Amino acid sequence: MYKVGLTGGIGSGKSTVCDLFKHHATPIIDADEIAHALVMPGKKALIQISECFGQDSMTDTGTLNRARLRQIIFNDAEKKQQLESIMHPLIYTEIERQLSRLTDAYCIIAIPLLIETKMQALVDHILVIDCPMEMQINRVELRDQLTNTQVMNIINSQVCRTERLTHADSILYNTQDITYLSHQVDKLHQKFLKQTK
Ligand SMILES: Nc1ncnc2c1ncn2[C@@H]1O[C@H](COP(=O)(O)OP(=O)(O)OP(=O)(O)O)[C@@H](O)[C@H]1O
Ligand SMILES: [Mg+2]
Repeated sequence: MYKVGLTGGIGSGKSTVCDLFKHHATPIIDADEIAHALVMPGKKALIQISECFGQDSMTDTGTLNRARLRQIIFNDAEKKQQLESIMHPLIYTEIERQLSRLTDAYCIIAIPLLIETKMQALVDHILVIDCPMEMQINRVELRDQLTNTQVMNIINSQVCRTERLTHADSILYNTQDITYLSHQVDKLHQKFLKQTK
């Protein structure tokens, strides 16, 4: 099966593009969804996080206190690395498990931090969703009610746009409307269907 790694900066349109691929019944493996499921109450990763970061990282009802955890790792490279060493191996193991169940011609693996985690070798093709930084900021401010500075902090914590683009086998410029984006996805779908592995 041909594995397409879909990546891009925050707010570039990864989830929007994944939804458009779903119209073609393309199987999507979503690293964000996996990460979310891994920290549900009772799950191994949640227990490891509470052991590593203390009760402070949990809410009173025993769920992950995401805002607090974000605060803890912000500007603390060691803590950030500790969190990643808990989450990343579990995420990639689950990606492999989901991959092993698929029999389609190709699939999309959506991994926002594909380049940052240096996991390019996991996929056969890297599809980067790209748009200018001003567009990322506008879209995320609107979607998440964040300030310009908050969005900028996230953008600065990710690999820079030029570096990400050097890894791309295909680039999908998400600078126009959804109809245009949908046409681009249709073309990519036809191209990926023809790939043999
Ligand atoms: N071509 C477009 N035209 C208008 N709005 C768009 C377009 N593409 C994406 N958006 C909007 O911009 C926001 C960000 O898009 P999306 O959630 O798909 O990005 P993402 O890359 O998945 O972000 P994240 O990194 O946070 O997961 C969403 O509210 C989405 O509806
Ligand atoms: Mg998304």
